[in-house]
Amino acid sequence: MEMGTGSRDKLVITGGWKLSGTTGVQGSKNATLPILGATILTGGECSLLGTPRITDVEVMLKILRLLGADVRTFRGELVVDTKGIGSCHIPPNLMREMRSTIFLMGPLLGRMRKVIISHPGGCAIGNRPIDLHLKALSAMGVEIRDDHGFIVGTAPRGLSGCDLHLDFPSVGATENVMMAAVLARGTTVLRNAAKEPEIVDLQNFLNNTGARIMGAGTDTIRIEGVDSLSGTKHTVIPDRIVAGTLLIAVALAGGKVRLEGIIVEHLEPVIAKLREVGSELTMGDDWVVVEGRRPIRAVESVRTLPYPGFPTDLQAPMMSLLSYAEGTSIITETIFDGRYHHVDELRRMGAQIKLDGRTAMMKGVERLSGTAVEATDLRAAAGLVIAGLAADGITVVEKIHHLDRGYERLEDTLRSLGAKVDRAKAA
Ligand code: EPZ
Repeated sequence: MEMGTGSRDKLVITGGWKLSGTTGVQGSKNATLPILGATILTGGECSLLGTPRITDVEVMLKILRLLGADVRTFRGELVVDTKGIGSCHIPPNLMREMRSTIFLMGPLLGRMRKVIISHPGGCAIGNRPIDLHLKALSAMGVEIRDDHGFIVGTAPRGLSGCDLHLDFPSVGATENVMMAAVLARGTTVLRNAAKEPEIVDLQNFLNNTGARIMGAGTDTIRIEGVDSLSGTKHTVIPDRIVAGTLLIAVALAGGKVRLEGIIVEHLEPVIAKLREVGSELTMGDDWVVVEGRRPIRAVESVRTLPYPGFPTDLQAPMMSLLSYAEGTSIITETIFDGRYHHVDELRRMGAQIKLDGRTAMMKGVERLSGTAVEATDLRAAAGLVIAGLAADGITVVEKIHHLDRGYERLEDTLRSLGAKVDRAKAA
């Protein structure tokens, strides 16, 4: 699976073209990544179907190979054999490339009883502490120590199940505890757990390998430790954030598009907001038809919240949409403390946005102006591409490698629906 896009690649978007047609949606990045980590616990061969061709998955596969796993594709399936894993040290350069590798602590501690990682550090969407991860793992018997910039976790006597309560329903901490607990001695009860659909997918994968987990999708997850797990075959769920991104793109660009092969229930909060904006949506269990309407109505409040609230990963795309709304809208980002780097770029396009801490106030304008803008993180990149679809003239989104971390050739999907979007490889 060759991947990798130059960091100087850019997307060139000619605004003003409506979208129409039918498209599917890639597999979920945020289900695939923890499930790839969980393969470490099986010591066997797992076949994953529907995994997205994105650079974050490439990084995770690089890490698994470096740890000693065998990774290959066979008839469109991603086959990961972790029998040969012998290392527990995540290479610092790859840690820095992708912060979410923090959830490899659970599987490596469960399998190797030791893990060495470097501090994931901050990233473009603000401070990324790991205190909730470390507190939970310590309660399960892991000794955590700092060693020259590395975090070393050891559990010489293995992990012990226990009752845990997360101070915040952290997605990654929930996943780390689930994976650390499946081979632990005894039962773990995790309260105030995150309820995202990707956590349910991780539970289903792990239970298919022989784990005994109940309650994913609720705020209390119970994991009974077992002696061993074995390989399995699993199809990852569709990516609700990519699906939501496409719905918002149609709401802004106008036209009528049918999304197929999705789980509509996962999109409820986005569908509700798009109806408030004035879009028309009809749906079944696994398809949605969205029609963008003008004028775009302002929305009094969008608050990003843990699932099933409005997803923080769609905050930037939503801000692009509301920058064109008739009236003033308010967005409150309650999840991350620094997820507004796209605001300056939207302002360069003429957006009227005021920031006050975690709150953004958008005074909609009839039309933004195309210009050169710079992606700062994955979802900001998606938001800027969407803003360009309806802008006056040409928008050039630079540093598009951020987009390629989580979107499988978004420009091809948009072009297939009628958008004028081209990738310009850096000279
Ligand atoms: C996951 O990140 C997703 N990544 C993120 O998607 C998503 O935005 C986020 O969940 C929230 O839904 C993956 O699944 C790979 P958190 P994660 O732990 O697990 C604070 C994308 O664009 N916190 O739920 O890192 C943290 O600082 C990415 O696909 C602590 O304080 O998110 C944040 O403010 C971006 N201490 C909040 O909790 C901790 O120990 C939510 O973080 C852990 C987290």
